[in-house]
Amino acid sequence: MSKLLKNLLVSSRGYSSSSKIRGRKYVLTKYFDGEPKKSDFNIVEEELPELKDGEILAEAEYISVDPYMRAYMIGYKLPTDMIGGQVAKIIASRNDKYPVGKFIAGAFGWRTHTVCNPAAPPKLGFLPLTILPDLGQHPVSLGLGLLGMPGNTSYFGLKEICMPKPGETIAITGAAGAVGSHVGQIGKIIGCRVIGFAGTNEKCDYLTKQLGFDHAFNYKTSDVKAALREGAPKKVDCYFDNVGGEISSTIMSHMNHFGRVAVCGSISSYNDKSLPKVTILQPSIVFKELKVEGFLVNRWFDRWEEGINANLKWLLEGKLKYEEKTYHGFDNMVDAFVGMMRGENTGKAVVKVKS
Ligand SMILES: NC(=O)c1ccc[n+]([C@@H]2O[C@H](COP(=O)([O-])OP(=O)(O)OC[C@H]3O[C@@H](n4cnc5c(N)ncnc54)[C@H](OP(=O)(O)O)[C@@H]3O)[C@@H](O)[C@H]2O)c1
Repeated sequence: MSKLLKNLLVSSRGYSSSSKIRGRKYVLTKYFDGEPKKSDFNIVEEELPELKDGEILAEAEYISVDPYMRAYMIGYKLPTDMIGGQVAKIIASRNDKYPVGKFIAGAFGWRTHTVCNPAAPPKLGFLPLTILPDLGQHPVSLGLGLLGMPGNTSYFGLKEICMPKPGETIAITGAAGAVGSHVGQIGKIIGCRVIGFAGTNEKCDYLTKQLGFDHAFNYKTSDVKAALREGAPKKVDCYFDNVGGEISSTIMSHMNHFGRVAVCGSISSYNDKSLPKVTILQPSIVFKELKVEGFLVNRWFDRWEEGINANLKWLLEGKLKYEEKTYHGFDNMVDAFVGMMRGENTGKAVVKVKS
């Protein structure tokens, strides 16, 4: 093939058949037992297929580590590609709607490169394939946090399940993480009193001094009942439950009549080999006539853009702030995953693929 023809092929398709790229991906070969381990995975090289009409080749820029990954893999037959969202750059395209250079978010799993047709994207996680909006000075990694799955979990979970009204009190566990820190800020935007529980004093300072939470308590060192009396003197109207376990029973016993509980997750037990026993919840639910509802964020896939746009607007207006804990290198995915589960992160934990 002449050099001219070859160049023409590359520029019209954004892809050269002669420069085959080899990708890498994580394959889970053992079910997690306690904390995830590197030896639970194999890192496998894969040759990428030629692009067909309508397809794109995307290179991972940031890959997400999320608690749901710890809870979900038991449902997959082994060996299986590891699930997860990522923000990737389109580096070749045979699809006019997805041009080279754009950043997309998608559920591509823990892999460096993805070939797909955006009309039928991979479903290795809970992130519809979207082109990221212009984020100005903000990093594209926000597509995995504030402007992605956790952002929409916060937006829809709080508004649709807790339905807070101005002046009400919201309690949040896992408050300094990706979802919790975002829920609290939306609570403040709505005009609520917001109290949070997090695992270090530094995280609590961040919540009150940077994000405007009214009170934040270190759940590892404080008496939760006393904290509730101090932080929520009019009791709790809405509880956004990220952690489950005994603290949730305590908070639900300190709620007002007709309080609403959004059961988002139960990270306190994800690594446990046997499920913990906690104080019975039913008396509080019955006598206070609480509404307790679990949810999965994919319930709102058809309203995904609404959540992204609302969060983006608040971000650009300076009403939403964020922190990220960035790990570096594709080979360090498991360290990042374990670190996030241990609480190393304030805000969203992400892995920058090229260190
Ligand atoms: N339902 C849905 O659709 C949906 C969607 C997204 C997330 N979620 C759930 O929401 C929760 C938060 O997710 P995220 O992505 O925002 O993660 P995250 O809060 O950013 O990170 C996990 C945090 O969990 C905390 N943690 C770890 N072990 C704990 C324990 N034993 N007790 C209390 N806290 C503990 C740690 O913070 P500390 O230092 O404070 O301990 C850690 O930073 C998880 O339960 C997740 O499964 C649900």
